[in-house]
Amino acid sequence: MRIILGVGGGIAAYKSASLLRLFTEAGHNVSVIPTEASTRFVGVATWEALSGNTVSSSVFDEVEKVNHVRLGHEADLIVVAPATADLLSRAAAGQAGDLLTNTLLMARGPVLFAPAMHTEMWSHPATRANVATLRSRGALVMEPAVGRLTGKDTGAGRLPDPEDIFAAAMAALEMRPQEPAVPAGALAGRTVTVTAGGTREPLDPVRFLGNRSSGKQGVAVARAALEAGARVRLIAAHMDVPAPDGVELSRVETALELREAVHAVAPESDVLIMAAAVADFRPDSQSNTKIKKRDDGGDPVITLVRNPDILAEAVQQRNAAAASGEGALPSVIVGFAAETGDGSGEVLDYGRQKLARKGCELLVLNRVGVSLVFGQDVTEVTLLSPADSDAAPAPTYTGTKTEVAAHIITRVAQELTGALSVH
Ligand code: CTP
Repeated sequence: MRIILGVGGGIAAYKSASLLRLFTEAGHNVSVIPTEASTRFVGVATWEALSGNTVSSSVFDEVEKVNHVRLGHEADLIVVAPATADLLSRAAAGQAGDLLTNTLLMARGPVLFAPAMHTEMWSHPATRANVATLRSRGALVMEPAVGRLTGKDTGAGRLPDPEDIFAAAMAALEMRPQEPAVPAGALAGRTVTVTAGGTREPLDPVRFLGNRSSGKQGVAVARAALEAGARVRLIAAHMDVPAPDGVELSRVETALELREAVHAVAPESDVLIMAAAVADFRPDSQSNTKIKKRDDGGDPVITLVRNPDILAEAVQQRNAAAASGEGALPSVIVGFAAETGDGSGEVLDYGRQKLARKGCELLVLNRVGVSLVFGQDVTEVTLLSPADSDAAPAPTYTGTKTEVAAHIITRVAQELTGALSVH
């Protein structure tokens, strides 16, 4: 899930570093928005290093990304810890003087406040009224813990333990409205071919070059396509998960086998979804016997040759068929891209370049890193299309692979309706 951690300007800000850790270790993507005052207690560098995301307090940083609108909109949950008396007051009044309060106003998912302040501040009628206002609007405001406060005083006002805030945050996520299911029947009468898993390129009878793809995302997409009423062909390379019931399954090992399987069925498929992690290279030869250690102590040399780009080929063949007036299937071809980069802008640029290079209708861009993606159940994707514009920018979805698959299939169904009038 995509979580925003708002950090208020109190001494307890340092405890939010442990909270952030709990979120990221659970596979969530966290963007930290500290208030200006809080950076006197914990600096921006700490939040950037721990979250793996850029951090800002101001609406005037990275203005082109319209962060004051985007962050709140995209968040599945906002957690404010510590929520100081001042921050509760500003939130209750609906102020928008900094990035965090802007984001709170734009929130579409649950908002959880974990207060921390002196007992007198917490029990002051002004704070009581602010808390009541926030709760009346549906915000979740935790009770502060009781104990030793910053000075010599003790009482109610300590920031709840990070583990307790984490538990409340997970409960809040459970409460959020369920993702829309795949529209029933949206792909009825259509054939969807999905490739999934990682190819294995043999070196000898016992060894291969492989990759970490689990096949989970491809399987989730195949399942979502089934739910949408499609006939689904699943071309499975190596996967850690079983193929879903109801698909027509072909098993392949290598990139060349996968290519052959795709070529055989693509011209009869309305949609081709290339979720497989295809090895870009294979050993130029395969030994028929196990490669042995050499008596002279020398190291073996493995020469790699390029595998064909199956996705780009499928697009070219479809376009060539369309140009010669033949039936031009698949109408919608979807590629996947796992990219790493320093910032989300860089990752988007790589994705757009790949979309242009491959020529497909949709590219599912995964940002890899910060405990996201490989083998994990929580993922974040941006759906890039050549039709993206300022008015209709590429949407980003965070969620389980099943939830993300539902978004992909919903979008494919929309593309298919549009695509049919084009081809
Ligand atoms: N793909 C393919 N054939 C290949 C390699 C990749 O069809 N030989 C498909 C994958 O199934 C995926 C998409 O292309 O849908 C993106 O693959 P990726 O390896 O990330 O792209 P590359 O073009 O290899 O770019 P790079 O390795 O430079 O990131």
